[in-house]
Amino acid sequence: MHYPYQITSLEQYKQQYQQSIENPAAFWNDVAQHFTWKKPWNQTLEWEFTSPKVQWFQGAQVNITENCLDRHLPQNAHTPALIWEPNDPTEHQRVFTYQDLYDKVCQFAHVLTNNGVQKGDRVCIYMGMIPELAIAVLACARIGAIHSVIFGGFSAQSIADRLYDAQAEFIVTCDGAYRGAKDIPLKAVIDDALVGNNTVKRVIVCTRTRTPVSMLKGRDVWWEDEVKKVESQQQKHFPAVAMEAEDPLFILYTSGSTGKPKGVVHACGGYMVYTTYTFVNVFQYQPGDVHFCTADIGWITGHSYILYGPLCAGATTVLFEGVPTWPDAGRFWDIVDKYKVNILYTAPTAIRSLMGFGIGPLQGKSLSSLKTLGTVGEPINEEAWHWYHTHVGKGKCPVVDTWWQTETGGVLVSNLAGITPQKPSWATLPLPGVAVQLVNDKGEEVTEANEEGVRSGNLCITAPWPSILRTTYADHERCRTNYFATYPGKYFTGDGALQDADGNIRITGRVDDVLNVSGHRIGTAEVENAINMHAGVVESAVVGYPHDVKGQGIYAFVIYQGNHSNDEALIRKDILQTVTRVIGAIAKPDKIQFVTGLPKTRSGKIMRRILRKIAEGEWQHIGDTSTLLDPAVVNEIINNRL
Ligand code: WTA
Repeated sequence: MHYPYQITSLEQYKQQYQQSIENPAAFWNDVAQHFTWKKPWNQTLEWEFTSPKVQWFQGAQVNITENCLDRHLPQNAHTPALIWEPNDPTEHQRVFTYQDLYDKVCQFAHVLTNNGVQKGDRVCIYMGMIPELAIAVLACARIGAIHSVIFGGFSAQSIADRLYDAQAEFIVTCDGAYRGAKDIPLKAVIDDALVGNNTVKRVIVCTRTRTPVSMLKGRDVWWEDEVKKVESQQQKHFPAVAMEAEDPLFILYTSGSTGKPKGVVHACGGYMVYTTYTFVNVFQYQPGDVHFCTADIGWITGHSYILYGPLCAGATTVLFEGVPTWPDAGRFWDIVDKYKVNILYTAPTAIRSLMGFGIGPLQGKSLSSLKTLGTVGEPINEEAWHWYHTHVGKGKCPVVDTWWQTETGGVLVSNLAGITPQKPSWATLPLPGVAVQLVNDKGEEVTEANEEGVRSGNLCITAPWPSILRTTYADHERCRTNYFATYPGKYFTGDGALQDADGNIRITGRVDDVLNVSGHRIGTAEVENAINMHAGVVESAVVGYPHDVKGQGIYAFVIYQGNHSNDEALIRKDILQTVTRVIGAIAKPDKIQFVTGLPKTRSGKIMRRILRKIAEGEWQHIGDTSTLLDPAVVNEIINNRL
């Protein structure tokens, strides 16, 4: 069986792509017919990329949870919606049918409203990967509250910044979270984040690790107690609140090249249509298939392809609490066999890390249920692509290399599994509705190709697709300057790309000051800011360098003048601790080199190009340094490089 909007041949892809570019409104108007709306739209699309302003399905009313839940009832009431695999494989899995999930979401929607949450309020969710996280997210959507999920690896300071930016009044968290052998005290981090906060009125705490937590009277309540109250009141259903198609569905903070992380805002209607459409088409999902996306719900991939896309499509989606290497490096393969997973969607960094264990952990695993493999988050090198294809997919599963971003909501460039051709390390063709263009630094379309017909440039999108970000929370100007001002009239992705004569796209990586470490986006400015907060640090400069497993590692050049101790190893550890406090462990530099000066131009600008070459081990090709204020500093840095 196919979904009505499912592309089933290369010819059909080509034809639909053409139509979608010629008339996007007509194209998406047709796709959107296959969703449940509370009220139809008057106009499919209105847009301009100057302010920018994008409106899809204007006038329509919708609630995404009616599409995720209600529309599958009663006919698919017993279909598993969510399969939860705990961190510890000896603990029991939990399976939620569509009926179960509906019941739980309605119940928690009551809990939220009983605690004062109203439509439009911002609810911060900071939880481990347990079913209650999915339930909390969907319950927010049910009542029209705007969720802002924060990845469990972020520090109290990062949470405090996000709470403040979103003026959040509510938090849903856990006592703690399990991740492999670790036990992370989430509520304690929230408590730290709330010191000095005066917007948060209520914290709902779900029990997972039962680690001791402080519960502040009048502010903190237990999830389980609140649910019991609803049970005793026999409140079973919760009518889905009518949302305008353009109302915000959620905020997700992400790093840019400057300043603090920004709150990317997605709108209810367009996000729903696009994530579902791309889920079905990219992975070629068939009803009954089991889909396993290994991302964390704290990132956009988890939002779009663990929760919203699959659930709107009535799919069975796996939620995994743990990590790929615990208790051993065969964990993914065990999960695939246990639930007969058909689609596995993971990150190149996970593949490379598992490659490091050799094929031993794959022996004795069947993996015969797999039909489609996917990757996301960073460029996949050919070696990792082939390992995945050969050893995991046994050479019979198409690998979809999906390129997209927090801001794009869903996949923009990818092959469609088994339908359009794959090309190792190439994300290949744009999805219908995605108008890609490579431009030079002046914003002109790149027309010149090399002898193989490949062009190279900065990747832009010239027209809106339904799940493009609408704004950055409480700061629309920042949205404009970040994405729409570099090349007026175009959405600039921040990525560099190649395009071959057949239109295939290969992402070469960020061209701005954003790092991609293990598939996590981190701004160099953010890391520098954290390092500079450490007492004794005078100045720092951070660049990326190629890293075998993480894709990119973080290399920090630091001018340190503290004289507390001369023990460099200890100072390094202290700096790492500061970064962990300010941002979180994911932003810890891999290398810290102490320097006496940084290469600067006469106007005082740090020449990162030079530092990048040194970090990459390409210091022989640094080029001209004569414009530097103090060229001698470069030799010193090269001589002491790590
Ligand atoms: C990078 C993740 C190459 C890219 C969904 C992008 C990729 C950034 C790919 C967005 C891919 C993502 N090939 N690079 N298939 N997918 N990227 O916001 O640099 O966490 O701009 O969204 O990851 O990261 P984000």
